Amino acid sequence: MTTLVIDNVVAGYTRADMILKGVSMTADAGEIVAVLGPNGAGKSTMLKAVTGQIAVREGHVTLAGRELTGMKPREVVANGVAYVPQESNVFATMSVRENLEIGGTVDRANVRPRIDGLFARFPVLAEKRHDAARTLSGGQRQLLAMAIGMMVEPQVMLLDEPSAGLSPKAAHEMFAVIREIAASGVAIVLVEQNAFDALQIADRAYILAAGLNHAEGTGAALSADPDIRRTFLGMH
Ligand SMILES: Nc1ncnc2c1ncn2[C@@H]1O[C@H](COP(=O)(O)OP(=O)(O)O)[C@@H](O)[C@H]1O
Ligand SMILES: [Mg+2]
Repeated sequence: MTTLVIDNVVAGYTRADMILKGVSMTADAGEIVAVLGPNGAGKSTMLKAVTGQIAVREGHVTLAGRELTGMKPREVVANGVAYVPQESNVFATMSVRENLEIGGTVDRANVRPRIDGLFARFPVLAEKRHDAARTLSGGQRQLLAMAIGMMVEPQVMLLDEPSAGLSPKAAHEMFAVIREIAASGVAIVLVEQNAFDALQIADRAYILAAGLNHAEGTGAALSADPDIRRTFLGMH
């Protein structure tokens, strides 16, 4: 049983200023959960709290009942949580294959078969296996970043604005890959500024505002709420 539970998490960058003031959400195996909200709402900060990059001051993060709260980032990854940051998510001067090898160092067993499995799944990465990551298109680079995360065979994948900077076509291809990863049983937490597309592919969504849960529901329910459309989704 996957179920990531974020329960009333309070966290920030300094003791004096808690950015997250008690955020809660869940994600189940195979589910795509979108996290939306204005700039500065605390979306990226929440992913950093879940992955142990900043300390959780109050509340808990658990995965299948196991406490992740207080673990170091590397331990969180080793416990099944892959994190794909918004920026600097590949090693630009290293080849596609070397990037995947680095993704495998958290769990050194079966690095080769895992890479071969990912090459079979994402043929464009296989074609470019010897090319430096910086030579990839934006969409291919994002795909590589997600493939690095897949190297640990995660139960949960946390994605921070994966469509940022991509063309609409590349973004749609990338969302299709996210769907496929979820269909293989991974829980996806998808932070997005592209609210429209995120709600299309999400099973459920949460809206964060000023470090607190503001609303939650199915994509259809949230998209139908006039206040939420206007204030948070940039829709009319
Ligand atoms: N490294 C940091 N140090 C201090 N404050 C930060 C840092 N990163 C983000 N913040 C602050 O935390 C708040 C939430 O930021 P963030 O989580 O990045 O928002 P979002 O991802 O929702 O746009 C903002 O006020 C931002 O200025
Ligand atoms: Mg952010």
